[in-house]
Amino acid sequence: MVAVKLNTSSFLGIEGSIVSVEVDIERGLPSFNIVGLADTSVKESKERVRASIINSGFEFPIKKIVVNLAPADMKKAGSLFDLPIALGILICTGQMNFNDWEKFLILGELSLSGTLNKVRGVLPITLEGIRNHIKNFIVPFENAEECSSIKGANCYAFENLKQIAYFIKYRDLMPYKHKRKTSKFLSPSLDFSDVFGQEGCKRALEVACAGNHNILMAGPPGSGKTMMAKRVPTILPDLSYEKSLEVTKIYSVTGNLNVNEGLIIRPPFRNPHHTSTTISLIGGGNNLMPGEISLAHNGILFLDEVLEFKKNVLEVLRQPLEEKKIVINRASGRVSFPCNFMTIMATNPCPCGNFASEKPCTCTDYERRRYISKLSSPIMDRIDLFTFVNSLDFKSIQDYKKSESSKLIRKRVENARKIQKKRFKNQGIYFNSEMNSVLIKKYCELGGNSLKLLEKVYSKYNLTTRAYSKILKVSRTIADLDLSESIKESHLIEALHYRKFISDNFI
Ligand SMILES: Nc1ncnc2c1ncn2[C@@H]1O[C@H](COP(=O)(O)OP(=O)(O)OP(=O)(O)O)[C@@H](O)[C@H]1O
Ligand SMILES: [Mg+2]
Ligand SMILES: [Zn+2]
Repeated sequence: MVAVKLNTSSFLGIEGSIVSVEVDIERGLPSFNIVGLADTSVKESKERVRASIINSGFEFPIKKIVVNLAPADMKKAGSLFDLPIALGILICTGQMNFNDWEKFLILGELSLSGTLNKVRGVLPITLEGIRNHIKNFIVPFENAEECSSIKGANCYAFENLKQIAYFIKYRDLMPYKHKRKTSKFLSPSLDFSDVFGQEGCKRALEVACAGNHNILMAGPPGSGKTMMAKRVPTILPDLSYEKSLEVTKIYSVTGNLNVNEGLIIRPPFRNPHHTSTTISLIGGGNNLMPGEISLAHNGILFLDEVLEFKKNVLEVLRQPLEEKKIVINRASGRVSFPCNFMTIMATNPCPCGNFASEKPCTCTDYERRRYISKLSSPIMDRIDLFTFVNSLDFKSIQDYKKSESSKLIRKRVENARKIQKKRFKNQGIYFNSEMNSVLIKKYCELGGNSLKLLEKVYSKYNLTTRAYSKILKVSRTIADLDLSESIKESHLIEALHYRKFISDNFI
């Protein structure tokens, strides 16, 4: 009997890698073995394959069946090998005539009845197939959008094994046409125009989004910090195709794409709770999964009540905040996940919550310092803007007239980002917040008066070099929002204003 070798793929981290499924059936004592570093989840595949073949009206051979997953040195997990194994058996036993199988990449989980279930990782797998010049894909119907969203992929999507057998025999199906882009993270019911007043904070968030700067909002309870942060995604532009692929890959391998969701085109917004563990935040675990910081890649990580997070959990953020990627080493392997996100942090300014607000603060200086010191200086150092959110007084609520919509703010953010994209075209970065000292020198020149002002502030507050760079970067973003080539004094003054809170209160 012939041996057959079908293409499938596995993934490690967020990268796919081609696996071939060799099936060999011989006379001998009936047995069914899967070899090639398959873990228990793959071994379970045997029962599903056997039942689904029988329940789809085919015969399961009572012979010696050996399935080899190659390359043998790569660890393989998951249920997506069910389908290629089943097809391999059907081809080997002459129940299916599939001559051009080398042109296809095949994956899917089978149920006992022979229906195909959605699997994880289809997006990186499809990309890997295309990279290896395989254009045709046989996938579960529920993964059709994901697979077909890749340019050049012919996706054939099915609900069960019988349909596949029919397709292979008659070739009567056109590739699935990609229909949907997903707008996950864009809630049509949220808009900045819902927020009364708080113009200063809204503006700070606009600046942060324009230059991808990390921002900390401090303010008394009920002042609208959480409310505003949740509206930030509404002022961010759509993702480019490349960024959208990066994000969707992460959601694909973590199983966070819903049934038939295609490419994610809106920047992610993640809001991990302050009880989150280190692993859920940075990723890892036995199966080397990405954590919240990678799910926030190309989008926003919102750490609400940031001082309630455990100190060690916040500390592990230092390295990824700097490097924009996280490398995880475990006995089960080594993977790297991207995590280039913008951070929004929100906190009360002191234990009683009222410091620097209209209401009296009952905390001592010491208590306040101790409270805020949980945000260690390396984390503080990575925050570009600080903004204070005050409670609204009765009059401002009464006098409130509808303010700007998210759409208008987003337009300005988009324009400022376009300017940066053009500016940094050959520099390998996208945003002002990513400028190194050479680029800061080149793009953040100040006029005479501005220089004098900055010098004065620098010595008065004993600023660090890092703070100095941040002020210049933020000034650059404010100038970009103003569509101004040069950084004017007014831009610098606004940037200084976003450091005032920590300069006055905490340094
Ligand atoms: N500026 C505002 N405009 C409209 N509604 C507001 C505003 N500020 C607060 N609210 C209302 O008050 C509720 C509480 O606000 P929110 O939860 O955002 O406050 P917070 O600053 O996050 O408070 P805490 O420090 O307790 O977390 C909001 O859900 C909203 O209904
Ligand atoms: Mg809140
Ligand atoms: Zn207080």
